[in-house]
Amino acid sequence: MASCTACHGRRGEGDAAAGYPRLQGLSAAYQIKQLEAFADGTRKSEIMAPLARSLAARARAQATDYYAGLKAPAHPTAPASAPRDDRLAVRGRWSQEIPGCVECHGASGSGIGAAFPPLAAQPAAYLTAQLRAWQQGARQGDPLGLMQRIASRLSDEDVRAVSEYFSAIPVGGSAPPAAAAAANTGQAPPPEADAGGIESLGGAGGERVFVPADKPIPDDGFGRMVRLGRDIFDDPGRYAGRYVGNSLRCTSCHLDEGRRVGSAPMWAAYVSYPAYRAKNGHVNTFAERLQGCFSYSMNGRAPPLGDAALVALESYSYWMARGAPLDPGIAGRGYLKLPKPALAADRARGAAVYADKCALCHGRNGEGRSANDGSPGFPALWGPDSYNWGAGMVSVSNAAGFIKANMPFSLGNSLTDQDAWDVALFVDSHERPQDPRYSGTVEETRRRFHDSDNSLYGQRVDGHVLGSNSVPPGRRLRRAASAGG
Ligand code: HEC
Ligand code: HEC
Ligand code: HEC
Ligand code: HEC
Repeated sequence: MASCTACHGRRGEGDAAAGYPRLQGLSAAYQIKQLEAFADGTRKSEIMAPLARSLAARARAQATDYYAGLKAPAHPTAPASAPRDDRLAVRGRWSQEIPGCVECHGASGSGIGAAFPPLAAQPAAYLTAQLRAWQQGARQGDPLGLMQRIASRLSDEDVRAVSEYFSAIPVGGSAPPAAAAAANTGQAPPPEADAGGIESLGGAGGERVFVPADKPIPDDGFGRMVRLGRDIFDDPGRYAGRYVGNSLRCTSCHLDEGRRVGSAPMWAAYVSYPAYRAKNGHVNTFAERLQGCFSYSMNGRAPPLGDAALVALESYSYWMARGAPLDPGIAGRGYLKLPKPALAADRARGAAVYADKCALCHGRNGEGRSANDGSPGFPALWGPDSYNWGAGMVSVSNAAGFIKANMPFSLGNSLTDQDAWDVALFVDSHERPQDPRYSGTVEETRRRFHDSDNSLYGQRVDGHVLGSNSVPPGRRLRRAASAGG
């Protein structure tokens, strides 16, 4: 290890002044992959290439295990108190298809699993050098080309801001308390702030779509409710945990905090209620529609009408919708309606797409994965921690439309329609928590609530009748209640 510590530090803390990266706590798999990339030139470094080539397999394993095992004290490489622009790091800039960095690197830059490395406490000079390397093609081999594509969209100013932001977070520390994004703390609006209004999306169709204003949330009684709504939307487990039975977030299926066209944006929903819904056979207010996503998508229970969680979400949606026409036919509402594919959707083909393009984040068994610091990471697509059989995403056409427009994450609209249908069918052909409307038998429940080609509930797949072995809905809530919490 002596040859490594000269640059990477005795405890793998890196060297901020020289721009040598921190290795402490980086997964061994990730480090080995990088050493191989240095050796074969897919990642160019005059310093590391000769070292990586000369390192025998055994020494390589020893060094990487050593650094992976180091759980170190905090080593902030810059004072955490200095004001930092966290807009891009935390919220991204979806108008340019740039998600927040934290979506793949964890809320405090802690990393997610082995493939998504931590960014916290890396020297700013190192982070900048890596983003430049991707822009210039000197670093390749990142899975699905995710970083290459994101880096290519960043300006020099963006690179500076995100590098400073992550370098200031200590190892094992948390994001600065001001992480609620400068854009929304009453400071001057960002230069790219949008006044909002009906805008042309450009593109082939030239469809005109409402764009919500990107204005600071006011610092008053109303603003506090709006902010709470946004916090719930981002992390319902934390801000409305009593009503939530899985580790999904509202923004898991309504991307860009409920703004994004193609994932049922909240501004379009807000102007569309009250409305009659066949799902429950009466006119629903917006608040009742919100309740539905708690019971089914969040596998939880509906907050009572008037509850602060509903008032906050309604305030947040209203704030976003201001200026939009009051029109349930508003362009951009709901999920993409994907035309039926040429070939009937097929599970085996879907499984292959899944293994190639989805398992990296959602896990081989659709189980999802939280960030290394426990904050929300990649949501579960099936199993006990996912949406239940009553949810809208159970409809294969909803799932296909969502996936086509938004997945793989940050690479929306890259799958063919056929792949999107196949993988949607595959995802929705797995067991998940029971439908809360379960009437005693699977056949009866299918007949009453799932009688369509679009739902696999009650269908036999690989010898198993879906729904016949579901865990009860809201299981996690029950566990919390019986633990006295
Ligand atoms: C002379 C200084 C120096 C020495 C000695 C050195 N490294 Fe590095 N290491 C670097 C630099 C600089 C980089 C960043 C390279 C780049 O720009 O991509 C790096 C990058 C790495 C990375 C990638 C980290 C990441 O976050 O992607 C790994 C892994 C690594 N080194 C392991 C080692 C190991 C193991 C040794 C000992 C065998 C070692 N290094 C010795 C300077 C050094
Ligand atoms: C869609 C997921 C995704 C998003 C969003 C994302 N990253 Fe990454 N990032 C990755 C992956 C995967 C890697 C590992 C690449 C590899 O294996 O070589 C990575 C690696 C990196 C690295 C190299 C770290 C190291 O130790 O060498 C940096 C720096 C980085 N990302 C910065 C960013 C910044 C800044 C943002 C936001 C502007 C961002 N990333 C957003 C997926 C993502
Ligand atoms: C698993 C994915 C998923 C999650 C998580 C989720 N939703 Fe939804 N949501 C959907 C789907 C799918 C629809 C459309 C259902 C349909 O077509 O009936 C929808 C519809 C909505 C609508 C109505 C949209 C419209 O235009 O009529 C609102 C409002 C809504 N969700 C709010 C929320 C809130 C608030 C949360 C978090 C508490 C949440 N959703 C969590 C998938 C999800
Ligand atoms: C780079 C990581 C990544 C990849 C690859 C990826 N996803 Fe996702 N997926 C996410 C993230 C992150 C979210 C939540 C979005 C958010 O919070 O902004 C998500 C959300 C979802 C959701 C809605 C939430 C839920 O739990 O049901 C579905 C469905 C989904 N992905 C399916 C897929 C499919 C199918 C593929 C492959 C074609 C795929 N994803 C590839 C990261 C990924």
